[in-house]
Amino acid sequence: IRWFDDDEVVQLAEHATVPVINGLTDLTHPCQVMSDILTVEEHLGTIEGKTVCMVGDGNNLANSWLNAATRFPFDFVLACPEGYLPDEGIVRKAEAAGASFMITHDPKEAVEGAHVIYSDAFYSMGQEEEAIKRRKDFAPFQITTDLLAGADKDHIVLHCLPAHRGEEITDEVMDGPHSVVFDEAENRMHAQRAIMATLINSHIDTRLASPSAVGLTEHTAARVASQSDGFRIAGSASSDRPSISAQLASISTKKLTQAAS
Ligand code: NVA
Repeated sequence: IRWFDDDEVVQLAEHATVPVINGLTDLTHPCQVMSDILTVEEHLGTIEGKTVCMVGDGNNLANSWLNAATRFPFDFVLACPEGYLPDEGIVRKAEAAGASFMITHDPKEAVEGAHVIYSDAFYSMGQEEEAIKRRKDFAPFQITTDLLAGADKDHIVLHCLPAHRGEEITDEVMDGPHSVVFDEAENRMHAQRAIMATLINSHIDTRLASPSAVGLTEHTAARVASQSDGFRIAGSASSDRPSISAQLASISTKKLTQAAS
């Protein structure tokens, strides 16, 4: 589900009998960041030891990068204007979990030596009426060739799209040799399929493990069990199912696409 209020999505998940995927809320955008990690690994081999630098708003994507930094061994740097910090609760949790991150208001300092430069719109969905003020507040945070002079020489540039060319990113950077934004857009599909495959297959297993608890009659459970391979999503055998992160790693070689085609 894609919805504004994160609490309402959590409530939905608490009451749902099927897995609920957060497809974007005002607070977080986890699927986008899982897929972006896939793009980083595809281009740089691994995210381990890399510096990911987001220049712009301390928004849902900044929050999800902070969450990711609690699980993956990379350094996260956010350069945002004053007054546009990420969520306090998420920052506190990242600190408590020992994530490596820094928040600054100086974009030049932030990009210094960074391997991944991350861009997002200055105003997110639902904030369009703030566009005029935000364009002014964020003007020094535009990603330009000049700004990127201090980044690692092999850096890659990501943007979750849709981009507002000439606002958060220049045409020159967006279409330049370091930009991987269209690979990134493609990988949203591969990563989303891996997330759905993992959740659907695990949902089937949970139901089959205790059919009466989820309201399945013995007869239906037996039918689902005998036909369960037909319900599963290809690319993850039930007896040897990798975790989401392992699946993301495996699809960097596009295994799910091959399995489907
Ligand atoms: N921060 C953006 C992300 C779009 C992929 C938004 O919430 O609209």
